[in-house]
Amino acid sequence: MIEPCRFPPDFVWGTATAALQIEGAADLDGKGPSIWDDFCRRFPERIHERSHPEVACDHYHRWAEDVGWMRRLGHSGYRFSLSWPRLLPQGRGAVNQAGLDFYDRLVDALLEQGIAPNVTLYHWDLPLALQSWENPEILEAWLEYAELCFRHFGDRVKLWSTLNEPGWSTMHGYLTGLHPPCQRDPRRALQVAHNLLWAHSRAVALYHRIWGRPEPGQGIGIALNLSPVHPASDSPQDAEAARLADGLLNRWFLEPVLLGRYPEEVLEFLRACGSAPRGHLDFAEPASQGGSAADSNPTVDWLGVNYYLPHHATADAPTTDFHLNISGDPQEASRFSIQGLFRFVQNPRGRYTDWNWEVDPDSLHEILLRIRDLRRLPVYVTENGIGLPDRLCEGQVEDSSRIAYVTGHLQAVHRAMQEGVDVRGYYMWSLMDNFSWLNGYRKRYGLLYVDRQTLQRTPKRSASWFAELARTGVLHGPEPASPS
Ligand code: BG6
Repeated sequence: MIEPCRFPPDFVWGTATAALQIEGAADLDGKGPSIWDDFCRRFPERIHERSHPEVACDHYHRWAEDVGWMRRLGHSGYRFSLSWPRLLPQGRGAVNQAGLDFYDRLVDALLEQGIAPNVTLYHWDLPLALQSWENPEILEAWLEYAELCFRHFGDRVKLWSTLNEPGWSTMHGYLTGLHPPCQRDPRRALQVAHNLLWAHSRAVALYHRIWGRPEPGQGIGIALNLSPVHPASDSPQDAEAARLADGLLNRWFLEPVLLGRYPEEVLEFLRACGSAPRGHLDFAEPASQGGSAADSNPTVDWLGVNYYLPHHATADAPTTDFHLNISGDPQEASRFSIQGLFRFVQNPRGRYTDWNWEVDPDSLHEILLRIRDLRRLPVYVTENGIGLPDRLCEGQVEDSSRIAYVTGHLQAVHRAMQEGVDVRGYYMWSLMDNFSWLNGYRKRYGLLYVDRQTLQRTPKRSASWFAELARTGVLHGPEPASPS
């Protein structure tokens, strides 16, 4: 029998969402369009079942009910993003008062229920007016937006993150071309990644100028998508391919935000290919008197880890080819291959969801230890969850595989905590089934099932399980079930 895992009493239990994926009200009350609203309108055929986020979960109108659910599900924290185009419809300039009012109501209601808000400034819904992270005006516009949010909400919101997954949004916006603005150019991708990391670091410095150094476990961070990359075989070529993929997808983001500089080895590689980004490549400020460089680093107060799956890399990459399984048909394989560099392959021993996402809690443990070894700081798991084709049958959603998934990943978190990783909380993805980007609405992640006709919320079996876990802080397991 496996010993239960006991989490500390102040461990934050919650869920995460993003504005575009749940709010709806795409054009209401003065909101401007985002690049995702525009993309979904112009290219409906690129999204599973031509779904769109115009109404999403209608959280814009149902926020009070949703906060009620969070309370019933034992939340002590809730991670959500602000919609930049709801607050600044043109990206900069005139502020939309209705947008401020909406988020004021939400933040106040959360606090009334004892739920600490963890607010992300940017979860991919760039105001259409700003077009792209290549826009020369973008940094100024971003800092105006950040300042508006920090000053307006900062008395009540004590946990902030700048960006959600700059790695994922850059990769699909500028390398695979699957997300807006649909570009396929590795050099531009690297420049945009840099623009985002630079914007992030300036917003961190701005926050500290306005609000000072926070209490431990509070302040400003970033949510990074981190997936360990394992070699597909024992060959030295595959080991090198995995190292390169890890350098570009993980270290390129992790080291600037934790250590204030790019990994030299990756920078060298990019210089040699003529692809190194332009601009300030050093993020650090001088060490404060008497402190170590790490203490005075102007980078994050805490790190958010979004973890879903690991990768397996081979050097055998004869073509450049990208494809995402967005149908949930297990026969439709995802492909990610960069000619001459690396290609991701399936793990023959792996367990996969219908969308070809491998289920591997040990890789979360691996990532957490890696963070500990780079820099000791508070960590939150800002996203983790499983997309399933859940069905409502006679008022019930039987999602034991979700419970098994979260159990396995929380056991990995607990193990990492015992090994010295300062994990302060876990935000499951997601509170409710929502607009899963290119996957539309078939891929469901919520504790709450959302009926697409009525938008009615129904708690799944995982919801009562999660509520009990959050109430007691004791994790029993594992559940005897496998994914999908
Ligand atoms: C993360 C995002 O990449 O993964 C979320 O931050 C997203 O917004 C989640 O929904 C799951 O991905 P997907 O594509 O299956 O919805």
